[in-house]
Amino acid sequence: MTWYQDESLWEVFYDCMFDQASFDLAKQQCPQILEMVGHPVKNALDLACGPGRHLLGFAQYGIAVTGVDLSGYLLSHAANHLDQQQTEGTLVHCDMLAYEPKQKFDLITNLFTSFGYYDGAEDNQTLLNKAYQWLNKGGSLVIDTFGKEQVAHMMEPVHLTEYDNGDLRIERPMLIDDMSVFANEWILVRGNEAFRREYQHFVYSAVEMKAMLANAGFEDIRIYGSFEGDEYDLNAERLIAVAQK
Ligand SMILES: C[S@@+](CC[C@H](N)C(=O)[O-])C[C@H]1O[C@@H](n2cnc3c(N)ncnc32)[C@H](O)[C@@H]1O
Repeated sequence: MTWYQDESLWEVFYDCMFDQASFDLAKQQCPQILEMVGHPVKNALDLACGPGRHLLGFAQYGIAVTGVDLSGYLLSHAANHLDQQQTEGTLVHCDMLAYEPKQKFDLITNLFTSFGYYDGAEDNQTLLNKAYQWLNKGGSLVIDTFGKEQVAHMMEPVHLTEYDNGDLRIERPMLIDDMSVFANEWILVRGNEAFRREYQHFVYSAVEMKAMLANAGFEDIRIYGSFEGDEYDLNAERLIAVAQK
């Protein structure tokens, strides 16, 4: 089993990763994404939608939303959130690469560092190729992740995060395999208990990301350093790729 197929990872870290503040943030990001793509969006597909944070955000703009995710646990949270907010949405439980859409989309998103997880680099490229096929002409793909330059610039040997609920997360990140892979260890200390998980995924520079998107067929490819549209430089908060078909 690969790390991202381990449901216990999402269960243990749910409260840290997907607290109310993260839902509020996603709600802010959706109009920013729509502004970045700069064209009308009638329907959107969120690849690796997790608990549906951005599905809720996009649906507020009258957009028909579909979310795909491999985690049944996270999709059940997504279903609850959609229900609670009386929001329509289609949830699909499968691997992103195995998804078979019945329609094409104006917008496809992959957000909050959900890209590069496949063990084979060629599978990550295949996902971009498929996203291109699944878009309407003129539609856009938006990927929000962090870039290799950022990791190399900011990485600390140990990083500690303290949450409002008292949880502590200790991280021990590394760049391995000729700096192509970000490998991290998370240790969550909750009361008197500790949970430890390891994960790793490919990490791309802005130039590498652009090349992969161009390979998939995208033409207008832009890289931003934040949802506000800042430049991607050493102060960048994120690597956000916006690519139009
Ligand atoms: C960091 S979470 C981000 C979730 C969501 N995009 C968000 O912003 O809240 C990564 C997500 O990727 C999903 N995932 C990982 N590998 C996947 C795959 N091969 N196919 C579909 N979903 C996958 C996980 O289940 C998880 O929901």
